[in-house]
Amino acid sequence: MFEKQPEGLRQKVKLLATEALNKSDPSGWFDRLYSQANRDPDQVPWARLKPHPYFQDWLNKNQPQGNHRSALVIGCGLGDDAEALARVGFNVTAFDISPTAIAWCQQRFPNSPVSYVVADLFALDPAWRHQFDLVLECRNIQALPLNVRSTVIDAIAALVAIEGILLLITRFRQTEAEPDGPPWALSNQELAQFQDLGLEEVQRDSFIEAENPSVQQLRIEYRRARKVR
Ligand SMILES: C[S@@+](CC[C@H](N)C(=O)[O-])C[C@H]1O[C@@H](n2cnc3c(N)ncnc32)[C@H](O)[C@@H]1O
Repeated sequence: MFEKQPEGLRQKVKLLATEALNKSDPSGWFDRLYSQANRDPDQVPWARLKPHPYFQDWLNKNQPQGNHRSALVIGCGLGDDAEALARVGFNVTAFDISPTAIAWCQQRFPNSPVSYVVADLFALDPAWRHQFDLVLECRNIQALPLNVRSTVIDAIAALVAIEGILLLITRFRQTEAEPDGPPWALSNQELAQFQDLGLEEVQRDSFIEAENPSVQQLRIEYRRARKVR
């Protein structure tokens, strides 16, 4: 299983997330979780200290050559996906809303070429619009509730350069009914928004892990057409 789910940790996440949602601050609990983890990755449910396996698999299959093109890692957590992109030659920017997570990345990778920055997906620098040749969105949309979904998808889609790629890794739900979360899996109707925003779906892979057969995950590669809508 790729997400650690010991009962105590699951309950802690639920509690922190519920408190934040009650304050209409859906991203407000992440820095608390990182900070309370006290640099122990076992206290961060999604931390693996290696690239996400579906992202690593995509790198292995596609062998992208960065050649100093720009890449952006959204909600970079502890930085392993960003480091993997830097290793294949991208100029990588990686951001997270949590200052503690960003400081942790900088401590783990002191000589890294990655630019680690604190930034909020809900208030991104307009200068980033259509600036990145490769954008990695791994498990962040699903970590935010449905009432902000459309805003989050808009913000992510806007980052992709003309002819750039967005790689999305997410849980998927088959129905449009509201799921219990976090995480809140994405539906086809929600995913269709990327296409409405000018991103063409070029590849979709589906995964079900033997240890967790009720959870379907997707890896979708989108490409922005030459003409920006
Ligand atoms: C479920 S974790 C996934 C981390 C990483 N992408 C991975 O797959 O391991 C969600 C990440 O999104 C970050 N995050 C949450 N809200 C955010 C926001 N508004 N802006 C930027 N990052 C945010 C959290 O701090 C956390 O690191």
